[in-house]
Amino acid sequence: MNRITLDINKALGTITKEQVYAQASQAEAANRKLENGTGKGNDFLGWLHLPSSISEADMAGIQATAADFRTHCEVIVVVGIGGSYLGAKAVIDALSGSFDYLENKKPVVLYAGHNIGEDYLYELSNYLKDKSWGIINISKSGTTTEPALAFRILKKQLEDSAGKEIARKRIVAVTDKARGALRTLAGKEGYPTYVIPDNVGGRFSVLTPVGLLPIAVAGIDIKQLIAGAVAMEAATGSNVLFHDNIAAIYAATRNELYKSGKKIEILANFTPKLHYVAEWWKQLYGESEGKENKGLFTAAVDFTTDLHSMGQWIQEGERSIFETVISIAKPQYKTTIPQDEQDLDGLNYLAGKRVDEVNKMAELGTQLAHVDGGVPNIKITLPELNAYYLGQLLYFFEKACGISGYLLGVNPFDQPGVEAYKKNMFALLNKPGY
Ligand code: PA5
Repeated sequence: MNRITLDINKALGTITKEQVYAQASQAEAANRKLENGTGKGNDFLGWLHLPSSISEADMAGIQATAADFRTHCEVIVVVGIGGSYLGAKAVIDALSGSFDYLENKKPVVLYAGHNIGEDYLYELSNYLKDKSWGIINISKSGTTTEPALAFRILKKQLEDSAGKEIARKRIVAVTDKARGALRTLAGKEGYPTYVIPDNVGGRFSVLTPVGLLPIAVAGIDIKQLIAGAVAMEAATGSNVLFHDNIAAIYAATRNELYKSGKKIEILANFTPKLHYVAEWWKQLYGESEGKENKGLFTAAVDFTTDLHSMGQWIQEGERSIFETVISIAKPQYKTTIPQDEQDLDGLNYLAGKRVDEVNKMAELGTQLAHVDGGVPNIKITLPELNAYYLGQLLYFFEKACGISGYLLGVNPFDQPGVEAYKKNMFALLNKPGY
């Protein structure tokens, strides 16, 4: 198996396979609309062929900047919010050791500008005090309040501690090619910059320098990530028939479930490192489809952890949900359960088995229980959790999101609703003009 797989069999019951496959021509048409640029939001389709169009030179440039950061910095602070940080965090968390941050593995990647927590910023500044560090400041618009605020504070701290000359070399800006306050500032200060293409929206930008630079700084093989995405770009192209196209089938299945009354999609994993992949996915689908008073609500759970909290609701609460599970076929490492002479915990029946065997039975048991409880189940399997398959997964979700949004009849590439809170906040803060 060299590709991730999709299994919708356990989603059938609430809806039928015929209903899903009846969407074939519409889903294929939606895919063609993406390809031909004839659908809503067609000025934001730059993500479609990012994987196959990134050049070796582009990747080498990103890797060189990353290598420079890795040589000179113990800590890198990635400043950004929403689509400008979630993709990087999703990949870095998924592919790093769970306890790397406690060891002397350099550089440590930290985040700022994704909240306005005063204590968070204070504690971050404090942590950075005796470190050599740098900033990757990411904002497409260059005007978003949260990252702008964090950057203003961190820039001053870096300049005060390392001096202006060194600070200029340790700050990279990733932003629009011409517009916005960050572009202007980068020009004035002489920061190295990377461009976020005009036609790529934040939540679809993980395979641009927005995601690739921090991911490379974390020491992850971006070439493998891109290679996986290239494979999925080909496997979900508009020339691929519906029944062979897992992105189209996923899009059609979730839309049929939505029409049948399932209003919430829960993305579940049994691998703790995938927590932020789910956060990235939540934004991708929530922001793309939640408009015009419609769209699935996207939620996420980490299993088995959350089976001990949300498990009750999922099993027996209002029957308005379905579940999409990301399953990893093979763990990276091997841990075997030991025999215990006393067996006071009664676990000797598991002795000699791998921990993953228990996890897999928990996964299967959960699937059967939830399906029995009226929760349709879609399963996505990655052969292993590595950069190649993660690249496939990211592109799979992006492509399915485009198709799904068109099936729903919305523009999946705008986000008019996110402005409402900003207007109120600016007026309350007496920002000139509000
Ligand atoms: O997906 C989106 O468009 C948003 O999440 C943006 O990425 C987020 O608001 C940050 O915007 P910007 O990169 O302009 O600072």
